[in-house]
Amino acid sequence: MWDRDLLSGQVALVTGASSGIGRACAEALARAGARVAVNHLPAETAEARSLVGSIRDAGGEAIPVVADVSTEDQVRSMFAEVVGAFGTLHILVNNAGIQSDAAFTDMTLDQWRKVIEINLTGQFLCAREAVREFLRRGPQPEVSKALGKIVCMSSVHQTIPWAGHANYAASKGGLALLMQTIAQEFASHRIRVNAIAPGAIRTPINRDAWSSEEAAEELLALIPYGRIGEPGDIADAVCWLVSDLSDYVTGTTLYVDGGMTLYPGFRENG
Ligand code: BGC
Repeated sequence: MWDRDLLSGQVALVTGASSGIGRACAEALARAGARVAVNHLPAETAEARSLVGSIRDAGGEAIPVVADVSTEDQVRSMFAEVVGAFGTLHILVNNAGIQSDAAFTDMTLDQWRKVIEINLTGQFLCAREAVREFLRRGPQPEVSKALGKIVCMSSVHQTIPWAGHANYAASKGGLALLMQTIAQEFASHRIRVNAIAPGAIRTPINRDAWSSEEAAEELLALIPYGRIGEPGDIADAVCWLVSDLSDYVTGTTLYVDGGMTLYPGFRENG
């Protein structure tokens, strides 16, 4: 766990923060000293309020901000709200994402569009507003060496093809080049843009893959490190990636996956 000096004086926005990886990131960023805006959908107000309450109880600062990340107007008003409350933004954790799985021949256009809109267009809209705010505010070297930092929450499925999840895999594959392109475009402004590619992390999105004993056993066969990941594994990596400790890191993807992308099936085969 990082101490409060790591990110003190910085403002972070975490999208999709009411549960899972986003929630753990919001908690960890607050523990590391950042003031945190907790983005959520209207239906997740109770969870977001309780998260904000627990951050405040622990001595941190947080506010809830409602927005559907795939809707331009809502994203713009969310950024205005964060800047209105905290003065600016230094860190965006582009985390909101969904799965809507189907065999390829059964996948509806609606399922395809929904996943692309939230997982890819949502990250575009939020990153664009964040970069605009970083440029508007200008350097604050006493707060952070970089003008601003963006972490795109990707997946091992930006690399590993995933049958039955064409929409999700396509959104994450697209995200890899979106992230690198923004990183390339703004590196000279000292804006750092990176991705984290989580493996199987124990959250509501993949409950079916770990909640029964048989499923968990099958899943573990894909993870050389021998355990399912926890949201905190990702949150710790995020804190490092948005801090000055990683100041020379931009345009990269950090796989936090217990070795899933080491293709353990090849240990004895191939
Ligand atoms: C997916 C999970 C899955 C994991 C590993 C993640 O991106 O959201 O459902 O368990 O990748 O396959």
